[in-house]
Amino acid sequence: MMMRTLQRQAVDRIKRHALGLSLGSPRAQAAILTEYLWAEEGAESTALHRVSEAAPGWVDKMISRQLEDERRHAELLRNRLSELDADTTRPAPALMRAKLWWLERACAPYMGAFAAGPVVVLLAVAAQLESTGVRIFGRHLAVLEAQQSIGPTAIVIRSILADETRHARSCAAAVERLVREDERGELAALRARIATIDRAFGVTIALGFWVVVAAHVLRDRQATERAS
Ligand SMILES: [Fe+2]
Ligand SMILES: [Fe+2]
Repeated sequence: MMMRTLQRQAVDRIKRHALGLSLGSPRAQAAILTEYLWAEEGAESTALHRVSEAAPGWVDKMISRQLEDERRHAELLRNRLSELDADTTRPAPALMRAKLWWLERACAPYMGAFAAGPVVVLLAVAAQLESTGVRIFGRHLAVLEAQQSIGPTAIVIRSILADETRHARSCAAAVERLVREDERGELAALRARIATIDRAFGVTIALGFWVVVAAHVLRDRQATERAS
């Protein structure tokens, strides 16, 4: 328990520090928004598409609406990135894809564990990714609000955060609805496994995030010094 709290606190502090650093640097802000774009078009959308392939009608409808939101998020981020003159054609780094791969691998033994089918597992993974999104966008918005930096980036993030909060809740509620009373123990074990993978990637991703942000901040500072 102690270790988990430390991991969570470390991720939060490293990321908050990086976000604080990014405030005066358009390059660093663009790098952060590009990471969000990769998540929207990558892991988040892929996880939802997989749910949709295995889902009963009511879940499929819910997921289709969420996928429309994810497309809107990607569009908002692309528009903001083009305002910042950023290149949005770079592919996502391998680490971003690796997390989803590990999650799926770790959850594979549970695919046949629930009467409702693999959809339970895929939805539980989607719920975790959505709630990670809520944490990420919530943290970013809190940093911007604390610095009273409510510009176009904050408006985009606020709009995405509202949707992700809804997505995380609906995915978790759908899992609850699909799981039978006698399957609760299996569900708890599955959720613990998913949370372990999420935490294991947390510190590595946060450190990578800090390094990328700091490098861009430095480049912007050097460019300003050369210009003055
Ligand atoms: Fe999203
Ligand atoms: Fe989402």
